[in-house]
Amino acid sequence: MSQFHIFTGAIRGWQEACAHVPALATATAGAAVELDLGCGKGGFLLELAERYPERTVVGAELMIGRLKRLLKKVEARELANVALLRAEAWEFVAFHLPDALFDRIHVLCPDPWPKARHRANRLVTSEFLGRITTKLRPGGVLHLATDDPPYFERFRGAVDGLPELTLDPDGIADIADIKTDFQRRWEEQGKSLQRIVLRRTP
Ligand SMILES: C[S@@+](CC[C@H](N)C(=O)[O-])C[C@H]1O[C@@H](n2cnc3c(N)ncnc32)[C@H](O)[C@@H]1O
Repeated sequence: MSQFHIFTGAIRGWQEACAHVPALATATAGAAVELDLGCGKGGFLLELAERYPERTVVGAELMIGRLKRLLKKVEARELANVALLRAEAWEFVAFHLPDALFDRIHVLCPDPWPKARHRANRLVTSEFLGRITTKLRPGGVLHLATDDPPYFERFRGAVDGLPELTLDPDGIADIADIKTDFQRRWEEQGKSLQRIVLRRTP
């Protein structure tokens, strides 16, 4: 089995995904593990994985073309600690991930869907955050960021209803300098990213 792989099959269970992606088995066996949900072109994930080779970094993304291009970069850098999964975020979180798996979950620059008629497509809601919080280990960190001010307000409202999460900006102190691909693009246009960093109460 190749060390590098995108798991593109329907994930019928986490054990099956682990059987196909060696880095996931390591994560399930107790290594620290981080999830980049909607990883896109993967600039953030690659830097994170290079900085922490002892951690498993899982990238989940809907667009298979993006994942294929990202896999080439993973191979070129020989990053054995990256697992790439083709997954739809809601379905992945709701039905496939085991509870209490991740030390950190990053949801960075999710599509803002600015038009009123598209708002229902937004990923970040209190229901979604409640569900994703159960996938964090106690004490684990949820890292949300967007360049879109109205969406950021939505983040704040969604977080308010979740007593199991407390604000902890230090939760990403070691990686605050790592930029996502979209962040670089927004910053070139003079926009800045707003973040919320939360810790699951132990
Ligand atoms: C605006 S891009 C941000 C990518 C990356 N996080 C960054 O900051 O550079 C949003 C990404 O989320 C992916 N995406 C959108 N909806 C998704 C969903 N329901 N499940 C998984 N990925 C999704 C898109 O394909 C895209 O790559």
